[in-house]
Amino acid sequence: MKLLFIGDIVGSLGREKLSEWLPRLKDKYKPQATIANGENAADGRGITEKIYKEILQSGVDLVTMGNHTWDKREIYDFIDDAKKIIRPANYPEAAKVPGRGIAYIKINQLELAVINLHGRSFMGDYEDPFRVGQELVEEAAKRTSHIFIDFHAEATSEKEAMGWFMDGKVSAVVGTHTHVQTNDARILPGGTAYQTDVGMTGFYDGILGMKKEPILHKFTTQMPQRFEVPDKGRSRLNACFIEIDDKTGRAKKIKPIRIDDDMSLFEL
Ligand SMILES: [Fe+2]
Ligand SMILES: [Fe+2]
Repeated sequence: MKLLFIGDIVGSLGREKLSEWLPRLKDKYKPQATIANGENAADGRGITEKIYKEILQSGVDLVTMGNHTWDKREIYDFIDDAKKIIRPANYPEAAKVPGRGIAYIKINQLELAVINLHGRSFMGDYEDPFRVGQELVEEAAKRTSHIFIDFHAEATSEKEAMGWFMDGKVSAVVGTHTHVQTNDARILPGGTAYQTDVGMTGFYDGILGMKKEPILHKFTTQMPQRFEVPDKGRSRLNACFIEIDDKTGRAKKIKPIRIDDDMSLFEL
Protein backbone atom coordinates (compact mmCIF):
# COMPACT_ATOMS: atom_id res chain seq x y z
CA MET A 1 0.00 0.00 0.00
CA LYS A 2 1.33 3.40 -0.98
CA LEU A 3 0.34 6.58 0.86
CA LEU A 4 1.00 10.23 0.43
CA PHE A 5 0.60 12.61 3.34
CA ILE A 6 0.61 16.38 2.83
CA GLY A 7 1.62 18.58 5.76
CA ASP A 8 -0.56 21.43 7.13
CA ILE A 9 -2.06 23.31 4.17
CA VAL A 10 -1.91 27.01 5.04
CA GLY A 11 -4.32 29.45 3.36
CA SER A 12 -4.98 30.01 -0.33
CA LEU A 13 -1.31 29.76 -1.33
CA GLY A 14 -1.13 26.34 0.31
CA ARG A 15 -4.27 25.23 -1.50
CA GLU A 16 -2.96 26.49 -4.83
CA LYS A 17 0.32 24.66 -4.28
CA LEU A 18 -1.61 21.49 -3.50
CA SER A 19 -3.77 21.61 -6.62
CA GLU A 20 -0.76 22.46 -8.79
CA TRP A 21 1.49 19.69 -7.46
CA LEU A 22 -0.71 16.83 -6.29
CA PRO A 23 -1.35 15.48 -9.81
CA ARG A 24 2.40 15.44 -10.47
CA LEU A 25 3.13 13.76 -7.14
CA LYS A 26 0.48 11.16 -7.90
CA ASP A 27 2.08 10.47 -11.28
CA LYS A 28 5.44 9.93 -9.67
CA TYR A 29 4.54 8.02 -6.49
CA LYS A 30 1.25 6.35 -7.47
CA PRO A 31 -0.25 6.54 -3.96
CA GLN A 32 -3.45 4.59 -3.34
CA ALA A 33 -4.48 7.04 -0.65
CA THR A 34 -3.68 10.71 -0.13
CA ILE A 35 -4.20 12.31 3.26
CA ALA A 36 -3.68 16.00 4.05
CA ASN A 37 -3.72 18.07 7.21
CA GLY A 38 -6.20 20.91 6.69
CA GLU A 39 -6.26 22.67 10.07
CA ASN A 40 -4.88 25.92 8.57
CA ALA A 41 -6.52 25.69 5.15
CA ALA A 42 -8.90 28.66 5.61
CA ASP A 43 -6.73 31.72 6.04
CA GLY A 44 -4.43 29.90 8.43
CA ARG A 45 -7.24 29.21 10.88
CA GLY A 46 -9.49 26.20 10.55
CA ILE A 47 -11.45 25.01 7.53
CA THR A 48 -14.77 25.84 5.87
CA GLU A 49 -17.04 23.37 4.08
CA LYS A 50 -16.22 24.97 0.73
CA ILE A 51 -12.49 24.62 1.33
CA TYR A 52 -12.88 21.06 2.61
CA LYS A 53 -14.58 20.20 -0.70
CA GLU A 54 -11.93 22.08 -2.67
CA ILE A 55 -9.18 20.02 -1.02
CA LEU A 56 -10.99 16.78 -1.84
CA GLN A 57 -11.41 18.07 -5.40
CA SER A 58 -7.63 18.52 -5.61
CA GLY A 59 -7.26 14.77 -5.11
CA VAL A 60 -7.10 14.30 -1.33
CA ASP A 61 -8.99 11.30 0.11
CA LEU A 62 -9.07 12.32 3.77
CA VAL A 63 -8.41 15.54 5.72
CA THR A 64 -6.93 15.52 9.23
CA MET A 65 -7.03 18.48 11.61
CA GLY A 66 -5.39 19.86 14.76
CA ASN A 67 -5.58 22.63 17.37
CA HIS A 68 -7.17 24.99 14.80
CA THR A 69 -10.05 22.58 14.06
CA TRP A 70 -12.76 24.81 15.57
CA ASP A 71 -11.52 28.23 14.42
CA LYS A 72 -14.19 28.52 11.72
CA ARG A 73 -17.53 28.14 13.45
CA GLU A 74 -19.24 26.49 10.48
CA ILE A 75 -17.27 23.28 11.09
CA TYR A 76 -19.69 22.50 13.92
CA ASP A 77 -22.45 22.31 11.29
CA PHE A 78 -20.78 20.07 8.73
CA ILE A 79 -18.18 17.84 10.43
CA ASP A 80 -20.69 15.26 11.69
CA ASP A 81 -21.96 14.61 8.15
CA ALA A 82 -18.63 14.96 6.36
CA LYS A 83 -17.14 11.51 5.89
CA LYS A 84 -13.69 12.57 4.74
CA ILE A 85 -12.48 14.73 7.60
CA ILE A 86 -11.34 13.74 11.06
CA ARG A 87 -10.29 15.83 14.05
CA PRO A 88 -8.05 14.90 16.99
CA ALA A 89 -9.61 12.05 18.96
CA ASN A 90 -8.45 12.93 22.45
CA TYR A 91 -10.94 15.50 23.70
CA PRO A 92 -12.51 14.89 27.09
CA GLU A 93 -15.48 12.61 26.55
CA ALA A 94 -17.75 14.93 28.54
CA ALA A 95 -17.20 17.65 25.91
CA LYS A 96 -19.21 15.63 23.34
CA VAL A 97 -17.12 17.10 20.56
CA PRO A 98 -18.62 16.73 17.07
CA GLY A 99 -16.86 14.73 14.39
CA ARG A 100 -14.65 11.68 14.68
CA GLY A 101 -10.99 10.96 15.42
CA ILE A 102 -10.69 7.87 13.22
CA ALA A 103 -11.69 7.02 9.66
CA TYR A 104 -11.16 4.13 7.27
CA ILE A 105 -10.17 4.34 3.61
CA LYS A 106 -10.95 1.36 1.36
CA ILE A 107 -8.09 0.42 -0.95
CA ASN A 108 -9.01 -2.56 -3.11
CA GLN A 109 -9.24 -5.51 -0.71
CA LEU A 110 -7.45 -3.62 2.03
CA GLU A 111 -8.45 -0.94 4.46
CA LEU A 112 -6.38 1.87 5.92
CA ALA A 113 -7.31 3.24 9.36
CA VAL A 114 -6.35 6.88 9.89
CA ILE A 115 -6.19 8.28 13.42
CA ASN A 116 -5.70 11.94 14.41
CA LEU A 117 -4.35 12.77 17.88
CA HIS A 118 -3.37 15.95 19.73
CA GLY A 119 -0.21 16.28 21.74
CA ARG A 120 -0.38 17.85 25.20
CA SER A 121 3.06 19.32 25.83
CA PHE A 122 2.83 23.11 25.33
CA MET A 123 -0.61 22.62 23.77
CA GLY A 124 -3.50 22.13 26.18
CA ASP A 125 -5.21 19.82 28.60
CA TYR A 126 -6.39 17.23 26.15
CA GLU A 127 -7.01 13.64 27.15
CA ASP A 128 -3.94 11.42 27.20
CA PRO A 129 -3.06 10.81 23.51
CA PHE A 130 -1.19 7.62 24.41
CA ARG A 131 -4.19 6.05 26.18
CA VAL A 132 -6.75 7.26 23.60
CA GLY A 133 -4.38 6.30 20.77
CA GLN A 134 -3.93 2.82 22.20
CA GLU A 135 -7.70 2.30 22.44
CA LEU A 136 -8.25 3.45 18.86
CA VAL A 137 -5.42 1.29 17.56
CA GLU A 138 -6.92 -1.74 19.32
CA GLU A 139 -10.28 -0.92 17.72
CA ALA A 140 -8.71 -0.44 14.28
CA ALA A 141 -6.59 -3.60 14.57
CA LYS A 142 -9.79 -5.68 14.60
CA ARG A 143 -10.37 -4.51 11.01
CA THR A 144 -6.92 -3.92 9.54
CA SER A 145 -3.18 -4.10 10.09
CA HIS A 146 -2.74 -0.86 8.11
CA ILE A 147 -2.93 2.04 10.53
CA PHE A 148 -1.70 5.61 10.05
CA ILE A 149 -1.49 8.24 12.81
CA ASP A 150 -1.24 12.02 12.32
CA PHE A 151 0.08 13.17 15.71
CA HIS A 152 -0.52 16.91 15.89
CA ALA A 153 1.93 18.02 18.54
CA GLU A 154 4.44 20.69 19.46
CA ALA A 155 7.15 18.89 21.41
CA THR A 156 9.66 16.77 19.53
CA SER A 157 10.03 14.58 22.62
CA GLU A 158 6.31 13.84 22.83
CA LYS A 159 6.28 12.95 19.13
CA GLU A 160 9.28 10.64 19.41
CA ALA A 161 7.63 9.06 22.46
CA MET A 162 4.48 8.41 20.41
CA GLY A 163 6.56 6.89 17.61
CA TRP A 164 8.19 4.42 20.01
CA PHE A 165 4.93 3.80 21.88
CA MET A 166 3.23 2.80 18.63
CA ASP A 167 6.20 0.96 17.12
CA GLY A 168 5.05 -2.44 15.90
CA LYS A 169 1.39 -1.54 16.50
CA VAL A 170 0.80 0.80 13.54
CA SER A 171 2.22 1.32 10.05
CA ALA A 172 3.15 4.99 10.51
CA VAL A 173 3.24 7.85 12.99
CA VAL A 174 3.91 11.24 11.44
CA GLY A 175 3.86 14.59 13.15
CA THR A 176 2.18 17.83 12.13
CA HIS A 177 1.71 21.27 13.73
CA THR A 178 5.23 22.77 13.88
CA HIS A 179 5.12 23.54 10.11
CA VAL A 180 8.86 22.84 9.75
CA GLN A 181 9.88 19.59 8.11
CA THR A 182 12.26 17.51 10.18
CA ASN A 183 15.08 15.47 8.70
CA ASP A 184 14.54 12.35 10.79
CA ALA A 185 12.27 10.07 8.77
CA ARG A 186 13.01 6.45 9.58
CA ILE A 187 11.46 3.05 10.04
CA LEU A 188 11.52 1.98 13.68
CA PRO A 189 12.58 -1.60 14.49
CA GLY A 190 8.99 -2.86 14.90
CA GLY A 191 8.11 -1.66 11.38
CA THR A 192 6.52 1.73 12.08
CA ALA A 193 7.44 4.59 9.74
CA TYR A 194 8.16 7.75 11.72
CA GLN A 195 8.82 11.43 11.04
CA THR A 196 8.67 14.09 13.76
CA ASP A 197 7.09 16.71 11.50
CA VAL A 198 6.08 16.57 7.86
CA GLY A 199 6.17 20.39 7.55
CA MET A 200 3.61 22.75 6.04
CA THR A 201 2.30 23.63 2.58
CA GLY A 202 2.08 27.38 1.99
CA PHE A 203 3.94 30.70 2.01
CA TYR A 204 7.60 30.25 2.82
CA ASP A 205 9.14 33.71 2.96
CA GLY A 206 7.55 34.18 6.36
CA ILE A 207 7.20 32.41 9.66
CA LEU A 208 5.24 29.13 9.71
CA GLY A 209 3.30 30.19 6.60
CA MET A 210 2.38 33.66 7.90
CA LYS A 211 3.67 37.16 7.11
CA LYS A 212 6.82 37.73 9.11
CA GLU A 213 6.36 41.43 10.01
CA PRO A 214 3.57 41.12 12.63
CA ILE A 215 5.33 38.13 14.19
CA LEU A 216 8.66 39.98 14.35
CA HIS A 217 6.83 42.91 15.89
CA LYS A 218 5.33 40.68 18.53
CA PHE A 219 8.66 39.06 19.39
CA THR A 220 10.46 42.39 19.62
CA THR A 221 7.78 44.43 21.44
CA GLN A 222 5.64 41.77 23.19
CA MET A 223 2.59 43.69 21.97
CA PRO A 224 -0.40 41.75 20.57
CA GLN A 225 -0.58 41.51 16.80
CA ARG A 226 -2.94 40.05 14.26
CA PHE A 227 -1.12 37.39 12.26
CA GLU A 228 -1.82 37.31 8.54
CA VAL A 229 -1.50 34.68 5.87
CA PRO A 230 -0.42 36.19 2.54
CA ASP A 231 -2.15 35.18 -0.69
CA LYS A 232 0.83 36.00 -2.90
CA GLY A 233 4.47 35.03 -2.73
CA ARG A 234 6.72 32.00 -2.90
CA SER A 235 5.33 28.78 -1.51
CA ARG A 236 6.46 25.33 -0.51
CA LEU A 237 4.79 21.94 -0.36
CA ASN A 238 5.93 19.51 2.32
CA ALA A 239 4.79 15.92 2.28
CA CYS A 240 5.91 12.37 2.87
CA PHE A 241 5.49 9.19 0.93
CA ILE A 242 5.05 5.92 2.79
CA GLU A 243 4.99 2.38 1.48
CA ILE A 244 3.48 -0.36 3.61
CA ASP A 245 3.75 -4.12 3.16
CA ASP A 246 0.28 -5.34 2.08
CA LYS A 247 0.49 -8.55 4.08
CA THR A 248 1.97 -7.40 7.38
CA GLY A 249 1.08 -3.70 7.60
CA ARG A 250 4.73 -2.93 8.40
CA ALA A 251 6.28 0.09 6.71
CA LYS A 252 8.82 -0.59 3.97
CA LYS A 253 9.69 2.97 3.08
CA ILE A 254 9.25 6.57 4.22
CA LYS A 255 10.43 9.42 2.03
CA PRO A 256 10.05 13.10 2.92
CA ILE A 257 9.16 15.35 -0.02
CA ARG A 258 9.68 19.07 -0.34
CA ILE A 259 8.76 21.21 -3.32
CA ASP A 260 9.75 24.88 -3.46
CA ASP A 261 8.80 27.36 -6.19
CA ASP A 262 12.42 27.54 -7.29
CA MET A 263 13.14 23.85 -6.92
CA SER A 264 11.11 21.49 -9.07
CA LEU A 265 11.17 18.48 -6.75
CA PHE A 266 13.43 17.99 -3.81
CA GLU A 267 13.48 14.68 -2.01
CA LEU A 268 15.47 14.22 1.15
FE1 LIG B 1 -0.75 23.82 11.47
FE1 LIG C 1 -1.53 23.13 14.73
